Amino acid sequence: MKVAVLGAGPAGLYFAISMKRRNPAHRITVVERNKADDTFGWGVVLSAETLDNLAANDAVSAAWIRDYFAYWDDIAVLHKGVRTVSTGHGFCGIGRKRLLLLLQQRARDLDIELQFETEIADPGPWMESHDLVVAADGLNSRARTAFAGVFKPDIDLRRCKFVWLGTRQKFDDAFTFIFEQTGHGWVWAHAYQFESDTATFIVECSEATWARWGFGEMSREQSIATCERIFARHLGGHALMSNASHLRGSAWLNFPRVLCERWSHRNLALMGDAAASAHFSIGSGTKLALESAVALADYLHSEPTLEAAFAKYESARRTEVLRLQSAARNSLEWFEEVERYLHLDPVQFNYALLTRSQRISHENLRLRDPAWLGGAEAWFQRRAGNTLNVQRTPMFAPFRLRDMTLANRVVVSPMAQYKAVDGCPTDWHFAHYAERAKGGAGLVHIEMTCVSPEGRITPGCTGFYAPAHEAAWKRLVDFVHRETEARICAQVGHSGPKGSTQLGWQQADAPLAEGNWPVMAASAVPWSPANQVPKAMDRADMDRVRDQFVASAAMAARCGFDMLEIHAAHGYLLSSFITPITNRRSDEYGGSLDNRLRYPLEVFHAVRAAWPAERPISMRISANDWVGEEGVTPAEAVEIARRLQEAGVDICDVSAGQTSLRARPVYGRMFQTPLSDRIRNETGMATMAVGNIYEPDHVNSILLAGRADLVCLARPHLADPYWTLHAAAALNDRGVRWPDPYLPGRDQLYRLAERGPLQGLKV
Ligand SMILES: Cc1cc2nc3c(=O)[nH]c(=O)nc-3n(C[C@H](O)[C@H](O)[C@H](O)COP(=O)(O)OP(=O)(O)OC[C@H]3O[C@@H](n4cnc5c(N)ncnc54)[C@H](O)[C@@H]3O)c2cc1C
Ligand SMILES: Cc1cc2nc3c(=O)[nH]c(=O)nc-3n(C[C@H](O)[C@H](O)[C@H](O)COP(=O)(O)O)c2cc1C
Repeated sequence: MKVAVLGAGPAGLYFAISMKRRNPAHRITVVERNKADDTFGWGVVLSAETLDNLAANDAVSAAWIRDYFAYWDDIAVLHKGVRTVSTGHGFCGIGRKRLLLLLQQRARDLDIELQFETEIADPGPWMESHDLVVAADGLNSRARTAFAGVFKPDIDLRRCKFVWLGTRQKFDDAFTFIFEQTGHGWVWAHAYQFESDTATFIVECSEATWARWGFGEMSREQSIATCERIFARHLGGHALMSNASHLRGSAWLNFPRVLCERWSHRNLALMGDAAASAHFSIGSGTKLALESAVALADYLHSEPTLEAAFAKYESARRTEVLRLQSAARNSLEWFEEVERYLHLDPVQFNYALLTRSQRISHENLRLRDPAWLGGAEAWFQRRAGNTLNVQRTPMFAPFRLRDMTLANRVVVSPMAQYKAVDGCPTDWHFAHYAERAKGGAGLVHIEMTCVSPEGRITPGCTGFYAPAHEAAWKRLVDFVHRETEARICAQVGHSGPKGSTQLGWQQADAPLAEGNWPVMAASAVPWSPANQVPKAMDRADMDRVRDQFVASAAMAARCGFDMLEIHAAHGYLLSSFITPITNRRSDEYGGSLDNRLRYPLEVFHAVRAAWPAERPISMRISANDWVGEEGVTPAEAVEIARRLQEAGVDICDVSAGQTSLRARPVYGRMFQTPLSDRIRNETGMATMAVGNIYEPDHVNSILLAGRADLVCLARPHLADPYWTLHAAAALNDRGVRWPDPYLPGRDQLYRLAERGPLQGLKV
């Protein structure tokens, strides 16, 4: 086969090598615009595992690369003048120039033609004269641009500015992150040794800080001198160096996240950064490029036609790329928002940094560095007020709000049971909630319990509006207090526009077949075309419903509930005021955020006055309507939380969505946690996170990274009322209290857990 490879970066050279290894008869030319030894950048990071994979493809080049590898195990974080070090991370680095020179040598040995100082402006003629063209011409690929209509590249220029520098200062003991506060904002560096006398030193900052420093107007030399001043105390008198002579101006860049919809056209395939890029903070760009090279070479030899080989290449590599890009996105977004976390204690900051991509979990950190993680856990326990048994995971730290102390941070999220009769909880509710309270969670929410018959969602919803309700709830609360350590929270709400609908397991949110009752909301906006048009509330309605909330809270207080949560999420009555999608009012209750929050806050203040001062109140909000700028956005949710905090709400239960049928949430594990993270770290308000959190490891990492104070699990508690006790057994935590009659069951479970992982609970 006659092959042209455009670009002699890692992807191009390694593809040429991989092809020749499979069939020496191929005639391959690699064309590169630079000189052979003229490359930008400094070191690149690979993992030992990647190199093992490469050795299986070409043992010779892998051995050469291995000879030059610099290894390090530690990650050091310098923040607030404190250097925190964790170990067990296992990286290796090599100079980019060294890597390319080794690959060039290997290519020559295999009889591959290397043609330097040849700029490719148009891939067309190469496609005419060759059987196969591989465009490995990097982030700004000309070949990709030439067929942009086919490849449909999605290029997302990220917000931070960075410059890739080198230094002779030694960073040979650890991959080092340095955060420096300057008069113009925070600037940070990612530094790692890749050769005995040179280290990579990537400097990064927000666009605003970059502009305030005036980096854009500086020459390269001025820019480097400024970075040297900023990091002087870490450089030991050594200079910072640039070798990006091809870049104009001060050599600062915004990272482009590239992903092409298609990777091939006729006889041309895209490869490496040209097809898809991965942010440098997870150090996987070179790995992706090299592994794609192997994959295409493989398929070209296993498949009957070029077309079939390209199809396999695209589908196999796309999955891997999407996986890495997702981790890279988490990581780069963390750096983009790093100023949100810089107030954190150095221990928590370091933990947040290490777990930023969500690829390293809590228990994975324990495998890497048990001593460091143990120290971080002890720090968390002490800060939570536990000084007796500090070697417990974060989920088993106590939490205090006003006079309520929770034994641990696990919360049974509110879940409607649709089993009430005329609003009255039944034996079902008693058995259901009693089981969850026995199951070990620190806090058990009851379902949204409605302030009036017409404020119910369905005919099966519970209420706080009749004497029989009070007696039934009190019986449950008394049981929970007498027999368990759990605290119990009453969620009160009014269904608003989503009222008069069917039971959850019927056609949820659809009107009843018969017996519908009139509904009301902030505005006359129905939930769907099939639902009733609600009455837009007038002042008399608002007064009446506010008083119903107060009467319900007073009833919940008499029942002995430890905490109250006002439901202002998910499109129900109070939520219908907050979100602009359903609030169309032109009076002082509509329009600006202050106006939209006016009624929910009126309700809160009235309830707060009736609720015992020593007991806390939470508010559940939808922190993202998932409809873009038209609805509540994460940024507006921060403002909502700030106003709740100012009003005296003790904790924000950060849910999302269910406010519009047009919502397009991006699901995934812990998908709503970033909303809690943002609110907690931008406002300082205590938060609960919720949404697809199901493993003890999720809970621990959310808590220790400071993304929430409490963690709510809903569906996992439907499947397993004893989720917390089971998690404790899986983690071998013996500090949880089991009900006395169940102690033999506990002992057996711990014995089983010692023999192997408990089914269904991954830690
Ligand atoms: C600051 C920074 C740090 C990074 N750190 C790491 C790391 O630690 N680990 C890691 O794995 N990856 C890292 N990367 C990513 C890594 O550099 C790239 O992902 C990798 O080099 C991709 O290889 P490639 O061959 O696809 O592209 P490139 O390495 O960009 O190679 C493309 C080649 O094509 C040539 N070329 C381009 N246009 C033309 C043209 N028109 N005509 C002829 N030749 C052309 C270029 O000169 C270049 O030699 C980092 C990237 C950056 C920006
Ligand atoms: C059956 C069921 C009923 C629910 N009822 C309520 C409710 O009454 N009040 C509320 O705020 N959220 C309710 N939710 C939402 C949950 O509290 C939680 O926010 C959501 O299920 C996401 O958490 P998960 O992924 O752990 O299930 C309900 C969820 C389920 C599955």
